[in-house]
Amino acid sequence: MTTSTKHQHLTKMPQWKALQDHFEQIEPQHLRQMFADDPDRATNLRIEDLDILMDFSKNRLTGRTVELLVELAEACGLRERIDAMFSGQKINITEDRAVLHVALRAPRGESIMVDGKDVVPEVHDVLDRMSSFSEKVRAGDWKGHTGKAIDSIVNIGIGGSDLGPEMAYEALKFYSDRNLKVRFVSNVDANDFVEKTRDLDPETTLFIVCSKTFTTLETMANAHTARDWTLKGLGGDETAIARHFVAVSTNADEVKKFGIDTDNMFGFWDWVGGRYSYDSAIGLSLMIAIGPDRFQEMLAGFHEMDEHFRKTPFERNLPAMLGLIGIWYNNFFGAETVSILPYDQYLNRLTAYFQQLDMESDGKHVDLDGNIVDYQTGPIVWGQPGTNGQHAYYQLIHQGTKLIPCDFIGFCKGLNPLGNHHDLLMANFFAQTEALAFGKTSEEVAAEGVPAFQVPHRTFTGNHPTTTIMMKELTPHTLGKLIALYEHKIFTQGTIWHINSFDQWGVELGKKLAQKIIPQLSDSSEVLEHDGSTNQLIEYYRDNR
Ligand code: F6P
Repeated sequence: MTTSTKHQHLTKMPQWKALQDHFEQIEPQHLRQMFADDPDRATNLRIEDLDILMDFSKNRLTGRTVELLVELAEACGLRERIDAMFSGQKINITEDRAVLHVALRAPRGESIMVDGKDVVPEVHDVLDRMSSFSEKVRAGDWKGHTGKAIDSIVNIGIGGSDLGPEMAYEALKFYSDRNLKVRFVSNVDANDFVEKTRDLDPETTLFIVCSKTFTTLETMANAHTARDWTLKGLGGDETAIARHFVAVSTNADEVKKFGIDTDNMFGFWDWVGGRYSYDSAIGLSLMIAIGPDRFQEMLAGFHEMDEHFRKTPFERNLPAMLGLIGIWYNNFFGAETVSILPYDQYLNRLTAYFQQLDMESDGKHVDLDGNIVDYQTGPIVWGQPGTNGQHAYYQLIHQGTKLIPCDFIGFCKGLNPLGNHHDLLMANFFAQTEALAFGKTSEEVAAEGVPAFQVPHRTFTGNHPTTTIMMKELTPHTLGKLIALYEHKIFTQGTIWHINSFDQWGVELGKKLAQKIIPQLSDSSEVLEHDGSTNQLIEYYRDNR
């Protein structure tokens, strides 16, 4: 087992102290002044690489801040941690596992060793099996029990076994086979299953049951319901299951127990975290929708960002800088949240996906040595696609009392050229970061003839920080780069905070308690021994269910 390296306490490090002192100088400054003082600010505080422009000049920092943040990253061993991750060391120490989502997109022929075994050939074996299965389904050669071709794919999974494939399917819908209906059932609430299947035909529906563990309550409940739905629709013949169910899991025994032939199972490995898994076989629904070639293009995008992260000095490193900027706000300005605002409707599930990726990874209060931290860790992540958010909650970002750093993500070309829609969208994209940074002074407002009593209400203080990430066009390749950018951003932050970004013990307690409560709901003779509040709520439910 790899234990954590000897680590100096974060807030006692000289690099941390230097940032604290520096913060005292930066905090009173306004972006308006910073831009006026430094005509080169916009060109100096940006990174352009991999066909991505990341402009971080509208953040409350200077070139000196970047130097100090990079010094902190180096002192925290970011370079060594990156090498440890990429070389298959067991950096997930609480589960004694390697963390190798980067191996999922390693090109054929590369080699990454885990426990003395090269994992890259196995990755490509599974990708090859996924490709040939996807081609069969797409070509109509994979027949259902009654001999009809499949026209509907239902992914059953939750968390990483749902959010990733769903987000990516939505993101890449433009490239998908429109003859296929693709649905995602995740919630154990029957409403989800019923609504997603109500217009589907059991004869032509394929269920992909995705679960790393194959024991997750919600997924197993939905999978059993799907099994009943299929058998009912196909006359009860058990042999139908083999044509209508495939599984994606690391747990072959449980897959067998469920009744899915392991010939119809696509595996992955314990060194892939659930939330980092949609580019493994967990992305099978996506591959069927967009085809294996496009899936490969996406993997190539991921890999490009992996190589950039591994090799580029931190001050020019997109994920490292995005992560360090987050540290600056989270730990020095005391910002509690970060808003991720994609200006593309196809990215409507991106922020939900990033919520799990970030909050399940870095939502930790204990460091790698088991000590309770005395500094803030992972932020609250939220947001939805622009411009909708502008007409909902941007008011608070512009004029509220909270500091909310925002990431604006946009594309130069729209995928559906329709009149001037894309220019309208992007005009808003640019306008918002400008307004947030520079605001409008009370003098400017008064000069417009606004009545004096309204002036304070219509003044924009500005100085609200944003990072703008622009790419040319939303493609499988650019999506891969974008997701890897955020994966490694989260890793950078976890490294600085000296936490394990790859376990998720915090989800366990609620799961255990739910198991205990299940029988108590339907059987009133079960004695309730919870706290007064929980007992009362369960009793109310029992009386009214
Ligand atoms: O409960 C949290 C979690 O374990 C996530 O980490 C994971 O993505 C999700 O549940 C689903 O797990 P599985 O793929 O094993 O069903």
